[in-house]
Amino acid sequence: MYNPFNNIKVEIYGKSHADKIGVKLYGIEKGTPISIESIQAFVDRRKSGKNAWSTPRNEPDEVIILSGVENGFANGEMIEGVIYNTTVRKDDYENIKTVPRPSHADFASAIKDKTMRCESGGGRFSGRLTAPLCIAGGIAKDILLSRGIKVLSYVREIGDVSGDSYLTKEVTADVIENIPTELKALSSADEMEKAVLEAKSDGDSVGGRVDLMVFGLPIGVGDNLFLGLEGRISTALFGVPAVKGVEFGLGFGFCGEKGSFANDEFDTDGKKIFTTTNNSGGINGGISNGMPITVSVAIRPTPSISKTQNSVDLKTGEKVLLSVKGRHDACIVPRAQVALEASLALAILDAIIDFDKENI
Ligand SMILES: Cc1cc2nc3c(=O)[nH]c(=O)nc-3n(C[C@H](O)[C@H](O)[C@H](O)COP(=O)(O)O)c2cc1C
Repeated sequence: MYNPFNNIKVEIYGKSHADKIGVKLYGIEKGTPISIESIQAFVDRRKSGKNAWSTPRNEPDEVIILSGVENGFANGEMIEGVIYNTTVRKDDYENIKTVPRPSHADFASAIKDKTMRCESGGGRFSGRLTAPLCIAGGIAKDILLSRGIKVLSYVREIGDVSGDSYLTKEVTADVIENIPTELKALSSADEMEKAVLEAKSDGDSVGGRVDLMVFGLPIGVGDNLFLGLEGRISTALFGVPAVKGVEFGLGFGFCGEKGSFANDEFDTDGKKIFTTTNNSGGINGGISNGMPITVSVAIRPTPSISKTQNSVDLKTGEKVLLSVKGRHDACIVPRAQVALEASLALAILDAIIDFDKENI
């Protein structure tokens, strides 16, 4: 199994409609405090709720730690966490067994796996696999927090509604931690929710954008070329299904700007050196520069929609019209947001372990 990390190893297993999904996390130091309550609280943030954007598939998602934790501490062995799928409904997918949903993984995986069939609920490509990702990510987040490093996020856009972002206002950890709305946006949460409801009532879906920030990362984490923080972080973020773009700081906004505008100029308060802007997103030369890491992620609209779309039956080769039934989020952005925090925390933890080795 491919592992994008240098020091830790994350193996996620299971399928949308299998009896369980889980994760094996290797490389967590013996004696590290592990709070099951904290992991569960993080996994619960990803769960479907009774809100505009969620699927009616409402699972308890109870985390069971099978190994690697004793009396609240990592014992140095592999940590395995599992979640049992309790509301499997394969029938929802009966009518599309051989008809791939446009832009889901159905077509590509049916050819790759040589089955010519679409797996129930997307099989191993389902967003449900981000639940075990959150078990591993929750552990990483807690380890980072114990070192004063916070991995946080907010929703920046949903559909055509844009809220505030690190580009439009000063965003501190406090600002993000005190967002009062259920939809974690810095502004325009009601309008975003309305955009989801409108798409939903139209049998459609909307995508959006999540911004993630890391506060408290020391200067010097990461290195040049493929050891660069941007690459390590991006690889982890692209592991979350439906992610189609990642940019740091000003990102694609750099194109067309002049150096005199884009450069982050240095200043000092006599004690430390900092920059007066953070267009670089806290990273230069692949190395953290002491400013908050800012990374923005584009998430596609949920592929499964009940609006009729063109597809082709893989069995008969005939063109068919498809309207997807079943339990789907009209917008996956707020739930993907939690999975993105998990991936980011794992990438940062992995890079910090290298940093620790460099600074023994
Ligand atoms: C938390 C989460 C939930 C998701 N739920 C659904 C869903 O209900 N229906 C759907 O079609 N896609 C859903 N997806 C997205 C698909 O898994 C994803 O679009 C698909 O695997 C194709 O991969 P790609 O978009 O990265 O190319 C979800 C993704 C995440 C992160």
